Amino acid sequence: MNMSSRKRIVAANWKMNLTVGESELLATEMRSVLTTMPRHCEVVLAPSFPALERLVKAVAGLDSVQIAAQDCAPAIRGAHTGEVSSLVLSELGVQKVIIGHSERRINNKEDHLTLKKKVDVALETGLDIIFCCGETTQQRKEGIHMQIIEQQLKDSLLHLTDTQLASVAIAYEPVWAIGTGLTPTSEQIEEMHGYLRALLNRTSAKVGPTLSLLYGGSCNASNAASIFALENVDGGLIGGASLKADEFMRILNSLPQ
Ligand code: 13P
Repeated sequence: MNMSSRKRIVAANWKMNLTVGESELLATEMRSVLTTMPRHCEVVLAPSFPALERLVKAVAGLDSVQIAAQDCAPAIRGAHTGEVSSLVLSELGVQKVIIGHSERRINNKEDHLTLKKKVDVALETGLDIIFCCGETTQQRKEGIHMQIIEQQLKDSLLHLTDTQLASVAIAYEPVWAIGTGLTPTSEQIEEMHGYLRALLNRTSAKVGPTLSLLYGGSCNASNAASIFALENVDGGLIGGASLKADEFMRILNSLPQ
């Protein structure tokens, strides 16, 4: 499969770092670059829930920009106090949702079954998914990182039909690289992305080769170009370095043309 058939995606996960006003201001500051992104690149901004509606408005008319939620509930409706349904996200004009981020797996004890339910309801309500996977330091030390990643995908994602799978991008985010300033070597990133690509190709010979694989974890303006140049890396999921317009814009400009 030709590289150019895979969509390049750079997603900003703002986590819980910005107020609604700050989120809106940041999107506005980025508008100049966002208006000129080439068609094969997709930029995704993921603010916290209360900022979503204003962000949808802030990027209206920018074809290659999408707004994502950082999470959704594992059910569409019901007695789930404090949860946010993907149906409501869809209603607001949100197009994507991040599912399986390690901060939620660890801090909120989200297990594989919960993540599988989130994947199913997100797709049922018309959202695309950025599905995160990643191993801990200990798991890498033990040399079981490949198995861990494969299991995370098998448990929550690979039950999907081809049509459903086509709405998913996968972000490999080693837990030990998130917010630490530590990045895996290029060889380690490509090894994992190549492994993921082979797994997806085995799962679906039709859709596997077309899925976008993102890297996340201390990706910044200095290392983005070398990471994005790797054969099986189609973009990034960026945390800290997406909080400043000029740095995030430099990351966007690091995408191969
Ligand atoms: P950092 O870029 O801050 O390491 O965060 C990565 C991340 O968790 C994105 O989802």
